[in-house]
Amino acid sequence: MPRTNKPLKVIAVASGKGGVGKTNVSVNLSVALARLGREVMLFDADLGLANVDVLLGLRPERTLHDLVNGAVDGLEDILIEGPEGVRVVPSASGIATMANLTPAEHAGLIHAFSAYSRPLDVLVVDTAAGVQESVTTFCQAVQETLVVVCDEPASITDAYALIKVLNRDHGMRRFRLVANMVADRAGAERVQKKLMAVCANYLPEVVLDLVGFVPLDEHLRKAVQKRAPVVREYPGSPAGKAFAELARTVDRWPVGGQAHGGMGFFVERMLQSA
Ligand SMILES: Nc1ncnc2c1ncn2[C@@H]1O[C@H](COP(=O)(O)OP(=O)(O)O)[C@@H](O)[C@H]1O
Ligand SMILES: [Mg+2]
Repeated sequence: MPRTNKPLKVIAVASGKGGVGKTNVSVNLSVALARLGREVMLFDADLGLANVDVLLGLRPERTLHDLVNGAVDGLEDILIEGPEGVRVVPSASGIATMANLTPAEHAGLIHAFSAYSRPLDVLVVDTAAGVQESVTTFCQAVQETLVVVCDEPASITDAYALIKVLNRDHGMRRFRLVANMVADRAGAERVQKKLMAVCANYLPEVVLDLVGFVPLDEHLRKAVQKRAPVVREYPGSPAGKAFAELARTVDRWPVGGQAHGGMGFFVERMLQSA
């Protein structure tokens, strides 16, 4: 199969704290981008309770471990197809143990991603919760990090902790915020202001762009219970429309200069940081 040189947009979704909607943002953004005609891969690097496969009602038979162990030949063998043709790299139980890979396993994994030859426009990564080294190093390597935050002191504190590490250790200055579970745009702007106020004291050069918000919406909860993305189950709902809007925004972002490195590049970064 010929290798494609299509530029790849890589988006890390992070939050600092769990339970703020990171996985829902990852899943719905991916599905909404696929709806716009993009070829999307969704990499589940979060070991939280409600994983991507759970939210999408998928039952992965193979994981990244099988790729590492050589139980399967290629990335193609572990991917599962989700809604709108989104290709899911199932819950990577083992990202935590990636530090223990032998050099051969490490090389094999990078090779498997580099050798993946089907066209791909966007790689969305649902990163692990928290601010551990693996998350921050990876966020630094990707073109865009979406920080999901909601209007709760703990969410704001944890988002701040994440931003602080990304700024202090990785020199990142500009962050893209998605405010979740807010009432409206004004509510989203309040969250942005609160976070900016915390940053202003200690991280004056940090810029926080509010790129979108998702309202608190019962439809989202219902969709989660049905194990379907809200953009598909209730596309006309407030949350469904908000995710579609977020996808249009993300779709307009230019693809960064690292794109030619392809997936192998990002997986290498992810492994290096583990
Ligand atoms: N916009 C929203 N409206 C209503 N409930 C939400 C919203 N976003 C998240 N939730 C609730 O929060 C739960 C956790 O979301 P999830 O995406 O799994 O968070 P995380 O990945 O950050 O732990 C969801 O199952 C849902 O019940
Ligand atoms: Mg999650």
